[in-house]
Amino acid sequence: MNRITIDADLGKETISRHIYGHFAEHLGRCIYGGIWVGEDSPIPNTRGIRNDIVEALRAIRIPNLRWPGGCFADEYHWMDGIGPKDQRPSTVNTHWGGVVENNRFGTHEFMDLCEQLGCDPYICGNVGSGTVREMQQWVEYVTCDVPTPMSRLRARNGREAPWPLPFFGVGNENWGCGGHMRPEYYADLFRRYATYVRNFGRNKVFKIACGPNDANYAWTEVLMREVGKQMNGLALHYYTWGKKAPQSSATEFDEASWFDVLQKALKMDELVSRHATIMDRFDPEKKIALVVDEWGTWYDVEPGTNPRFLYQQNTLRDALVASTTLDVFNRRCDRVKMANIAQTVNVLQAMVLTQNEKMLVTPSYRVFEMYRVHHDATLLPLDLECAPYGHAGASIPSLSASASRDAEGKVHLTVSNLDPNRTAEIECHVRGAEVRDVSGRVLTADAMNARNTFDAPDAVRPAPFDGARIEKGTLRVELPAKSIAVLEIA
Ligand code: AHR
Repeated sequence: MNRITIDADLGKETISRHIYGHFAEHLGRCIYGGIWVGEDSPIPNTRGIRNDIVEALRAIRIPNLRWPGGCFADEYHWMDGIGPKDQRPSTVNTHWGGVVENNRFGTHEFMDLCEQLGCDPYICGNVGSGTVREMQQWVEYVTCDVPTPMSRLRARNGREAPWPLPFFGVGNENWGCGGHMRPEYYADLFRRYATYVRNFGRNKVFKIACGPNDANYAWTEVLMREVGKQMNGLALHYYTWGKKAPQSSATEFDEASWFDVLQKALKMDELVSRHATIMDRFDPEKKIALVVDEWGTWYDVEPGTNPRFLYQQNTLRDALVASTTLDVFNRRCDRVKMANIAQTVNVLQAMVLTQNEKMLVTPSYRVFEMYRVHHDATLLPLDLECAPYGHAGASIPSLSASASRDAEGKVHLTVSNLDPNRTAEIECHVRGAEVRDVSGRVLTADAMNARNTFDAPDAVRPAPFDGARIEKGTLRVELPAKSIAVLEIA
């Protein structure tokens, strides 16, 4: 028997909505074709930005958007992307396929996108190949509310009022594509660059340092020791890689690959916990956030597409990766205050895929839609005992869950069954509240690799859930194999 116990009247930590953030890089068809089509496109747009994308992302209440990279960020010179579009220089996107970057999408267009989405901008600055002055001027250009050379330039380019800029990243992956630095060297650079990331007027910038890749605990140790509270957040990057070919296809895989990917996704729990343990030593009051600003699945690209464009399909398996990872972030919301899945459109574990004028939302998008109930809700203590899901001699927990109470006092439980073969019978005890009613939705499909296509864009979508009932005050759930449910417990 699987058992979940929830304390509905306890809990003190808030699950920040910023855990549900997204990431859009100048990579492949994420920006160009995905988000930006230009004002003259026959695809319906507002000032060049696709209306269908904006509508889809607004529906999941996207809280923040990270831009312009990724590896692109440390080669990006923001002044190339302002002013009259036909006078902007063309540059080369050296990291992502050597394609021409015409800079039609720059700072004004990104800020317009965030305003259309109703989300907070998160800009990642250039430490690897940029200067301190360049970074200082970018922040001044965006946020300064008194006349200065940069705010006057902004006004001449059509924007009088400053924009709010709550989040700023001081470099990206500076241990790799952002300059191949040692942590000691980057820590010193962070201290220097971040000094000039100024707060103008009422704008207050939350400064995020490049953090570790995966299990690089030494990087966390050095940054916490040498930078400490000069940073507000420390970024962590972790990707769930597919197995080696032929099992690294996003869509053609067997149960071994299903198991392997979910097992790797669950490693996020260990990573967050071990990095957080190091952070606790230097910052017991938890003032510095762990910001997982790149995470998600990474497989071979779809056959026939540019290998550097990282275009992959998205199946029910990706939905399980999303739900189990978001459960980890919810449960560790004492330290994880923000996260960004990679990436929003047409790249890696995308929310949305486009094909010319067509657009579809992925199974991963559906998880973000279902998990909206956790945004800014109070995390509830939850104890989970569950059967293992075993395959080929190895095993992982068959269930993942998290629970919260929203501002109206409603309790929500999200629970996933990772086992692709067996229904899970779950007995759920809700303490500190009388349980009278339950309703919910479930995301599942017949096949592990079920997905949405441009011909069948709604093949995988949530359905009303009839597998939960109340019996003498106990909630009993029959959760189908390979499924994710969100329950509202009244
Ligand atoms: O998301 C794709 C790439 O992955 C990013 O540009 C980089 O930061 C990471 O290695």
